[in-house]
This record gives sequence, structure tokens and C-alpha cells, in this order.
Amino acid sequence: MNSERVGINWIAVMVLGLAVHSACNHPAPPAGAGGPGQPSAGAACDLPTSIAGSREELAWRLFVAANCKTRTGRLTWETWTTQACLNNPDDCTGKRLHGSVLAAANAHTLTPDHPKRTAGCQNMTTSATADPSLKQLVPGNLSAAPVFCEEVTINAAEKAYAQHNGLLTTTGQGTFLQSGKTIDFPSGAVEVKADWVPASSFQGVTIDCSKPNPAVYQEIIDGTCYALTGVHVTSKLFPNWLWATFEPQNPQTNPNRCRPDLYNACNDPWGSAPATSTGAATAASPALAALFQAAGAALAPSFQNYRLTGVQTEYSDPIASAGVLGSSFVEFNANVPAHQASCITCHSYALYDITKAPKGVNPNGGPFPGGAPVGQPTPPPGAAWKPLDFSWFLGFGVPTK
Ligand code: HEC
Repeated sequence: MNSERVGINWIAVMVLGLAVHSACNHPAPPAGAGGPGQPSAGAACDLPTSIAGSREELAWRLFVAANCKTRTGRLTWETWTTQACLNNPDDCTGKRLHGSVLAAANAHTLTPDHPKRTAGCQNMTTSATADPSLKQLVPGNLSAAPVFCEEVTINAAEKAYAQHNGLLTTTGQGTFLQSGKTIDFPSGAVEVKADWVPASSFQGVTIDCSKPNPAVYQEIIDGTCYALTGVHVTSKLFPNWLWATFEPQNPQTNPNRCRPDLYNACNDPWGSAPATSTGAATAASPALAALFQAAGAALAPSFQNYRLTGVQTEYSDPIASAGVLGSSFVEFNANVPAHQASCITCHSYALYDITKAPKGVNPNGGPFPGGAPVGQPTPPPGAAWKPLDFSWFLGFGVPTK
């Protein structure tokens, strides 16, 4: 990290420190963990409300808090609002798992209120469907018709802001943006996108929820046992959010983890020893081991086998991969081409053309044709495009009205 970046980060830390401090005077409703009767894991299970330590440490604190079990036995983020539940009461309890809207975007089949938002799981990337850049990386152990499933959730702080400003429909977003206001989620906003896979997607892989698996977190959902293969976590503690993604060190389900010929090598100077890796398992650093220990029984032991792929808070991150950051499971199965994944850049294109309301959302689900997928974003094709504050959830996760 050069000294200029350190300077910029310090300013951001100071400004945000003030913002977070004033936000603390008006606490958001509890997000799920830490209430009465829950496993007592202290601060490790509370979502961080300010920036302390490195960005990697913050990413881990978010990951651990979001995955702590609540007293109902569900993971904290599983108690948050899912996109499908917004106008489909059935989806709020059962029917949690859905397809990838991003995959629909890459297949150029995306529309506002896309059926994938509420439909079932979807096909994994296979040699028949892979982008040419991904073909040689398709796992060799897939079954004939492999599927994966996705859940997208927002925490209470994010939902409250969106609800208060009428942003949970694309019609409401149009009204808000046409009035000249800017969407700016509060610093407590957190989103989680999780990917699950059933054993039937593989040959020779057992995913048995009757036995704890130390390699990967497993859970029975709608009667089927799934493994949790990818977790995206974002936090508005930084102006352009903090972007982080985690994968289990489990070659059976995540054989391409940390591969620089796919998206990027893993780099986590806070939590991983060694910090940089290209697919081999690493040890948890003493600092990370202490965080796991502080979470105690609230954090399923299998989460100790997850590793952080990398973080971004600026378009130039991660410096080592020249801005490329993606999950070998989530983005791979959405068919994002090799070396073309950048969380922060792709989400910067979550834009809304206020002249086209209520169907103003950028239908590309990513860059406009010819736009940069990684690094500094290409400006939108006109002044009518207004930001949705990096949230594709607003763009594609909500109904029209
Ligand atoms: C090529 C574009 C693209 C890339 C790269 C990308 N995303 Fe997304 N992401 C999307 C789209 C489109 C959605 C919304 C639809 C969906 O649920 O898949 C989304 C959804 C999400 C969500 C759910 C909430 C929301 O804002 O929609 C999170 C959290 C998220 N992404 C984080 C990440 C992280 C972290 C990375 C990098 C490791 C990343 N994304 C990379 C396009 C992208």
C-alpha cells in the first residue's frame, strides 16, 4: 500500500468515524444476533459498527457476525430479509433458494422483476455452457445436470433505509431519483449473497447433513442437504462499500479457489498464514483463530475452514490482481469470464435511467456494452443514469410495484 492510499484511507476512516458515531445515537433495530437467550459470544457475533483495524479484519468481523447462530439455530444473515420475500410472503419462510440474476445478466436474458428473482435453483456452468475463457476450469466432478442455488439478503439497517425512502420497488426508486435525491445507504447497511450446492450436482461427493463436515458448512433447506460454497459480504462502512468474498477450503466443491488464472490469487494479510495463496489450504492467523474462539459455539466449526479471497474498497483494489476480485464459485457459475470480475466495478453499474421509470434499471447487470468490467468504471451513456448506491439488489431484487 503506498502512502497516498494510506492518507486517503485515513480521511475516510475519520469521516466515517464521525458518521458512525452519530449513527450510534439512533441504534438500528437488532439484526438478529446478540439478543437475549442467544449464544453468548460477545462482540464477535455483533456486526461491526465502525472501522477498526485493517479492511481484512473488518471483512472477517462481518463474516463471523453474519454467520453466528441466533437462538433459533439459524445463521444471523438467514434471519434477514431476502429479495424474494419482499412481495412473496411464501418466500419469507420456506422456498429460500433461487437462481442467479447475475447469470441471467451474463446470458443477456435479464429484465426488471426477472423471474429468477423468485424462481428455483439453476444450472451450474458446465463445459457445454461455459464462456470460452472458463472452459478449461470446469470442475471434472460435476454430475450430468448440476445446479446451484442462491440467497440474497439485506440486514435491518439497509431494509429500514430502503423502506423509509420507498426504494423497495423500481417504481419507488424512479420517484425518489426523479426528485433529485441521491441513494446513500447508512453505514450500518450489510448485504450477504450466499451460494449453496446439493450433493446431486457432483459425482462421488457426499454432502450429508446428519454429520458435521469440518470442511464446509452444511444445512438442510427445503428437505435437501446443501453445502455453503460461497459467501459475498458487503458493508457500507466505506463510501463505495467494502467488498469481500469467502470460500471453503474444500477442493471437492471449490476446486478453483484462489486460482489466478480464473480471477485472482487469495490475499489476506490479517487472517491467513501465509497471506497470499493460489489454491493450497492455509492456516488461520493467530488473530483470526482468536476471533473464531471469541465467537465460540455460536459459530459452527466448519466456518473455521473458510478463507477470505480478498477485499475491495476502491476501484484499484486488490492492487496485486490489478482490480480483479471474484469468487471461484459465485462468479464462475454466473459465467463471468476469466479476469473480468470486480465486485466494486460491476456493482458501480447499478444505475437507473430516470427517463425510463419504472423500468429504468441498467439491464446489463454489469458494464454497458464496451464498458470496463474491472478498475475505474466507464461513465454511463448519459446524465439520466443515477446510481443505486452499488446495489443490484435494488436493481433486480425488488418488484416493479
Ligand atoms: C459482473 C457483475 C458482478 C460482479 C463481478 C459481482 N457482482 Fe455482486 N451482483 C451482481 C448482480 C447483477 C447482482 C444482483 C442479482 C443477484 O442476486 O445475483 C449481485 C448481487 C450481489 C449481492 C447481493 C446484494 C446486491 O447488491 O445485489 C452482493 C452482496 C454482491 N453481489 C456482492 C458481490 C461481491 C462481494 C463480489 C465480488 C467478489 C461481486 N458481488 C461481484 C453483479 C456482480
